[in-house]
Amino acid sequence: MGTKAKSALTSKWIKTKVLMRSAEISPLIPETVRFTRTHLQQMLQKYGMVYVKPERGTYGNGVMRVEQTREVQHAGYKYQSGTKVRTFGSFEAFYLSLHKSTHGRSYLIQRGISLLKYSGRRFDLRVMVQLSPRGKWETTGLIGRVAQRGKIVTNYHSGGKPTAAQKLLAPHLNAAQQAQLIRRLEKLGEDTGRFYHKKYPAFTQIGVDVGLDHSMTPWIIEVNTNPDPYIFNQLADKSMYRKVMAYRRAHLKRKNIV
Ligand SMILES: Nc1ncnc2c1ncn2[C@@H]1O[C@H](COP(=O)(O)OP(=O)(O)O)[C@@H](O)[C@H]1O
Ligand SMILES: [Mg+2]
Repeated sequence: MGTKAKSALTSKWIKTKVLMRSAEISPLIPETVRFTRTHLQQMLQKYGMVYVKPERGTYGNGVMRVEQTREVQHAGYKYQSGTKVRTFGSFEAFYLSLHKSTHGRSYLIQRGISLLKYSGRRFDLRVMVQLSPRGKWETTGLIGRVAQRGKIVTNYHSGGKPTAAQKLLAPHLNAAQQAQLIRRLEKLGEDTGRFYHKKYPAFTQIGVDVGLDHSMTPWIIEVNTNPDPYIFNQLADKSMYRKVMAYRRAHLKRKNIV
């Protein structure tokens, strides 16, 4: 029956490694390594800004935005968790503090994406991809999530606000560019769904967290294997929500019969 296999894949490390094997998708995954002292030094050297997050986190909990500051007067390090920012003059003190806040749990370091903003607040996108009743991977939903002012995560459970993607993209792109980007995101979601399905046939829906930077590169921040469909009910236009729920019901029904 394979009911056990339905439980979500929780390790962001394993999920990232799976996707790195796709030649098409891997260039869109920000470099990700395990949290160690040496990796932290290397990643900051390389990217200046990184995100440090629990290997098995959810809802944006424990996610930190970490930076090496290069201003001549104030060279040093800083990190933000929630709205609290801590700054350090030495790598040693900085690393100790970060390490302490991991509470001995497994953490990852990921290249930081400077997320686009909407009226000063960071946002990212959630692409919902489902196996259609006819057995084809289809992008059924696309929604934006806006972080609370001053926050670094966009998750609904951390106060992020689900918002129509078009509204968030409008200040950054004209109508034709928006349509082109949305098509690209839909295809990226479908490629990701098909690729995952090869290795994990039990999954029939995924939610891809996509971050956009100023170059409009759609970076894959995380793939959720048990995505929340109800976020789509937050939009005034219920058409996506209805489609997401219809596909979901079709699969639940099939699983009960099989
Ligand atoms: N590398 C990154 N660059 C920019 N923002 C990030 C990065 N990693 C995480 N975030 C922000 O933090 C949020 C939560 O991180 P995510 O990896 O999706 O973990 P969770 O399982 O807690 O949702 C993302 O939706 C995004 O807003
Ligand atoms: Mg996420």
